Amino acid sequence: MKIGIIGAGNIGSILARHFRQLQHTVLIANSRGPETLSQIARETGAIPVPVSEAANGVDLLVLTIPLKGVPSLPRDLLARLPVTAPIIDTGNYYPPRDGQIAEINSGLVESEWTSHILGHPVIKTFNSIVADSLMRKGLPKGAKNRIALPIAGDDAQSKLLVMDLVEAIGFDAFDAGPLSESWRYQPGTPAYCPDPTIQELPSLLQRADRKKAPKSRDSSSKLLGNVILKFPQPELVRVVRLFTGLDTLKPRSWMALVHLLFSVAGSRFRNSSES
Ligand SMILES: NC(=O)c1ccc[n+]([C@@H]2O[C@H](COP(=O)([O-])OP(=O)(O)OC[C@H]3O[C@@H](n4cnc5c(N)ncnc54)[C@H](OP(=O)(O)O)[C@@H]3O)[C@@H](O)[C@H]2O)c1
Repeated sequence: MKIGIIGAGNIGSILARHFRQLQHTVLIANSRGPETLSQIARETGAIPVPVSEAANGVDLLVLTIPLKGVPSLPRDLLARLPVTAPIIDTGNYYPPRDGQIAEINSGLVESEWTSHILGHPVIKTFNSIVADSLMRKGLPKGAKNRIALPIAGDDAQSKLLVMDLVEAIGFDAFDAGPLSESWRYQPGTPAYCPDPTIQELPSLLQRADRKKAPKSRDSSSKLLGNVILKFPQPELVRVVRLFTGLDTLKPRSWMALVHLLFSVAGSRFRNSSES
């Protein structure tokens, strides 16, 4: 396939690596221009292009940028996107980063907002896994602890194509229904970032509470931003699994967690007293 990726940060660069390993042709774009993407081109063989060319003639487009950037994408971005090509949206709404988006604050599903702005349907996935897990934790089909990713969207053909790709890069693909249901794995919900298996994921999606999710998103991002900024992502996943009740904490793990919290807090304290 020929795949366009808009966004070359944490998620975009990892997806470019995975897709190139499957021998797909990958076009990649960021906001600063192709001349700033020589390293990822060298490392992966992805082809840097201007944003305005990232959707031209591709079989699949991945949009993986902060939500605040979506309204400023080129107006004719999708003019040369083939009608059958799905768009994957990996986006998550974080007001401190993205600013206040009134429609989402009023309850519009995040990917429905993105879809309205683009004027094109999207498939929502890769938003509920941290970059470290996406990079390192793909496993062959049938492996114990293989992570499942929810995939929501309204077009059956597009969803199948995306599900096949998710499976090919090492994750179980779980059909999470139409795009309107994708709020069930937005930030602040139990299915957001616990690296669930395909057995664990359905009940997490069922437990999602639409009213409580934004508050839970804001309090956890405040905690991560202010208290444990350098919390390593693998530990973050462990904590999320504990909070969602997927794992229970044994006494030795408690000790390890307390030790980690103290060491992260200590290094933050040292850094702030040095600056
Ligand atoms: N990080 C995670 O663990 C994670 C996990 C799942 C989902 N997500 C979500 O996925 C999205 C991307 O996250 P990320 O962590 O990969 O972000 P990131 O590391 O900050 O990278 C963002 C990328 O988007 C590009 N970009 C920003 N605005 C753009 C625009 N208007 N046009 C073209 N390119 C633009 C940036 O280009 P420049 O550098 O040139 O500005 C950069 O390459 C976000 O919505 C995030 O919430 C993140």
